[in-house]
Amino acid sequence: ASAMARLDVTETFCQITFPGHLHTQESLRYATDFQFRDTDTLIVTYPKSGTTWMQQALTLLFNRGDATVSQTVPNWARAPWLEQYYCPEVLKASQGPRIITTHLPYHLLAPSLQGSRAKVIYVTRNPKDVAVSYYHFHKMANFLPQPGSFEVFLNKFLDGTLNYGSWFDHVKGWTSQAKDNRNFFYITYEDMWQDLKGSLERISTFLQCPLEAEELNSTQRHCSFSSMKENAMVNYTQISEEIMDHSKGQFMRKGKIGDWKTMFTEEQSRHFDQVFESEMESSQLRFVWAY
Ligand code: A3P
Repeated sequence: ASAMARLDVTETFCQITFPGHLHTQESLRYATDFQFRDTDTLIVTYPKSGTTWMQQALTLLFNRGDATVSQTVPNWARAPWLEQYYCPEVLKASQGPRIITTHLPYHLLAPSLQGSRAKVIYVTRNPKDVAVSYYHFHKMANFLPQPGSFEVFLNKFLDGTLNYGSWFDHVKGWTSQAKDNRNFFYITYEDMWQDLKGSLERISTFLQCPLEAEELNSTQRHCSFSSMKENAMVNYTQISEEIMDHSKGQFMRKGKIGDWKTMFTEEQSRHFDQVFESEMESSQLRFVWAY
């Protein structure tokens, strides 16, 4: 295995506890002024779209299926959130390829990404499932307000007033510059769910990090929902109760597609479809969700 391809993880990474708090003005400025390196890979998602899953996938791909890092270093430390205050600390010492995560909208990062050859991986998920997952996450994440009823929460989702704003703007913004951009890779949670191995292969091709069959098999194994649910380095059980209260729900909750059907009423689904149609009218992307 090439040493170059390996993820650069320093000791200090593991010492930092996950910040439950939302970003500050200062950390936001750090993000917008960030100097990307051509060897960086940026994972971009709207919350609850498969962020942790992609963090795990990239960790294993860069480590050629060797699970050591993915089992000993928490995800937030091996793929820090650019907008979180601890990011400079984590990235300070690293020299090699870095995985960085963000939920920020495109317009905030566009200036620093332009002119850089950093790779961007954008993951989307059926927004109905995102809304349901985000709703449950609000119940257990103590740094977020209590969600209230699902009806109330869903309206906030559709109005774009939740943390990180409008899902529609997020997706439209990031995918608007995908065309002819060889450093941009678009994938859905559903792609990964339906064909994890094929998705991992496509990602590894994009990253120019080809794996041997056994390395790919190992990557796939450690990215399965059942494996990640048990892995304390990705299931957030190491986090203090003040930040995430696992007695109120699990971070690795269901890991399914189409779970929205257990929450949405017919009326809510119809209304959602109408908002989706009008919001996404201007988007080149065609979403197909058969579930
Ligand atoms: P659910 O709440 O629907 O179960 P994020 O990491 O962006 O916050 O997204 C969290 C969602 O991704 C949760 O969805 C979680 O269960 C799901 N997830 C995490 N790892 C997964 C995996 N290996 N396979 C399927 N879903 C996964």
